[in-house]
Amino acid sequence: MCGIIAYTGHRPSVPVLIQGLKSLEYRGYDSAGLSFVHMNKLHLFRASGKLEALESKLDTGAVIHATSGIGHTRWATHGLPNEINAHPHLDHNSDLALVHNGIIENFQELKAEFADCGLAFRSETDTEVLVCLIAKGMERHGDMRQAISWALRQVEGSFAFALISRSNPGTIWAARRSSPLIFGQGTGENFVASDIPAFLPFTREVVFLEDDELVEMTSNEWRIFNSLTLEPVTKKVQTIAWDVQAAQKGGYRHFMLKEIFEQPQVIADCLAGRVDRETKGVVLKELESLQVPKRLHIIACGTSYHAGLWGKYVMESLAGIPVDVEIASEFRYKPLIHDPSKIYLFISQSGETADTLAALYLVKKQGGITLGLCNVLGSSLAREAHHVVYTQAGPEISVASTKAMCSQLALIFLITLYWARHNLSLDSKAIEEAVCAFEDLPDMLSKTLEHTRNTATRICKSYSEVRSFFFLGRGLYFPLALEGALKLKEISYIHAEGYAAGELKHGPIALIEPDLPTFALALKDDLLGKVKSNLKEIQARKGKIIALTQPGSELDVNDVWEIPVTWGPLNSFFVLPALQLFAYETAVYLGKDVDQPRNLAKSVTVE
Ligand code: M6R
Repeated sequence: MCGIIAYTGHRPSVPVLIQGLKSLEYRGYDSAGLSFVHMNKLHLFRASGKLEALESKLDTGAVIHATSGIGHTRWATHGLPNEINAHPHLDHNSDLALVHNGIIENFQELKAEFADCGLAFRSETDTEVLVCLIAKGMERHGDMRQAISWALRQVEGSFAFALISRSNPGTIWAARRSSPLIFGQGTGENFVASDIPAFLPFTREVVFLEDDELVEMTSNEWRIFNSLTLEPVTKKVQTIAWDVQAAQKGGYRHFMLKEIFEQPQVIADCLAGRVDRETKGVVLKELESLQVPKRLHIIACGTSYHAGLWGKYVMESLAGIPVDVEIASEFRYKPLIHDPSKIYLFISQSGETADTLAALYLVKKQGGITLGLCNVLGSSLAREAHHVVYTQAGPEISVASTKAMCSQLALIFLITLYWARHNLSLDSKAIEEAVCAFEDLPDMLSKTLEHTRNTATRICKSYSEVRSFFFLGRGLYFPLALEGALKLKEISYIHAEGYAAGELKHGPIALIEPDLPTFALALKDDLLGKVKSNLKEIQARKGKIIALTQPGSELDVNDVWEIPVTWGPLNSFFVLPALQLFAYETAVYLGKDVDQPRNLAKSVTVE
């Protein structure tokens, strides 16, 4: 997830680009850059770190003359977050400059073709391959639209890009596939950007570009084409009513809500480039140099720990690998019994959590093999672990973690299938079935989220005055019950306990009374009968129950909340947003500060 902006018009372009990038920083901020044409030369400015580093480099006279250009703020996916990998990227002749958001999945194959012709690349990015491919298209076709179309017919993956050419200053081309791109129509000026806030101070007239659409724009004209056939496309200009602050949240009231609704995209992004299109096998290049572990030891904190617990159920049942899961702050102060057959997996959204890092250093010191699963590229965890896999969820701004956990579950599921294949614990047919169901999930999920939210809004009102809650689940829904309780606690300040449903009768059931409700995860799996018995025990003590379940489960409780059915453990991806939305709507109803709850920090970098 990166932010891109392009401008052509009557104003000095650099301040417009910088202002736009500032409002896109939520999409990534590990490096930034911009480019424009002046006096028949492409000018390029890039810097690692936040935008101020880029601004301090903009010291040439050309900066005040440019009236068009492109800009980028990066959330690294390919290559370290340094200046060389920062966007824009140029083609081999420095005639074209391009900014890109997304992942070109077949960039290695395309890169190899250039290498065969003796052409070297300056960066490690997939983006540089794309701009070089378009330049090659120019050599063949002599026309930019044809060149782009030719290149895009060869590219697999997701992208939104904007392109300028030294020989055609004032014209900008931009296109998208599976990454957002919006055109902004001004008066004597035009824009494209990853998100509306980037140009909202200048225009509210927008066109939402669809997949495989290409816009060609100058200051006074714009046209949209199908990027593959180059047939013209007629689009409707819409007027946006949001103010700038609302627009940063994509029109959502809180970042947490926006991030919950981003989860279908998060799953799609996690899958990007990780499934072989023909065999439907899982491709995880990052794990190729790692042996399939005999045992796995997962270490993490908070929500990431819950993701690890979920991983234990999935990994043991599908890949047959025994898994231990520990809280990092406990693990780090125990004697470490080193087992060379183990791989130690550290899960962290930020990659900067102090306890998780301390545990990692301890394991490394004892000679253990470490694998990091994290979201932030170049974070301490990513740098220090022997191996790293990225969740590719994009920046998470709300303190309460939502989409990060979704991406962790998604990646753990992929790793499980990958090792299950190597372990022969699942055959290729079973893997294909799981992968196909997984590929269908983003679409299914995005169709149901609004309904899930409405149900959460309706149900939460009857429970928002209670002082305490139980969240119960069995099997792989037990970790999700823990997560449901954590979400409710941290943003609504209602006390909540997550419990294994079968454990309630060993003590906590003493607390059950009409004012202490239970949120039960009663999904239609082999354990449903057991969960039903546990719920009867609660009802016998007059406890109220919300049951998150699926059609046909025949539950007779206070609130039956049905979610769709999919393949095995993938049902968790419907459970998770329901729990998140229940906590969210409760907190909103109670008037709490959802995105920045009291006493908490997004990244816990102290012990
Ligand atoms: O960045 P990490 O995943 O290492 O963070 C771990 C926890 O601090 C984090 O998940 C925390 O529990 C969240 N506030 C939960 O919403």
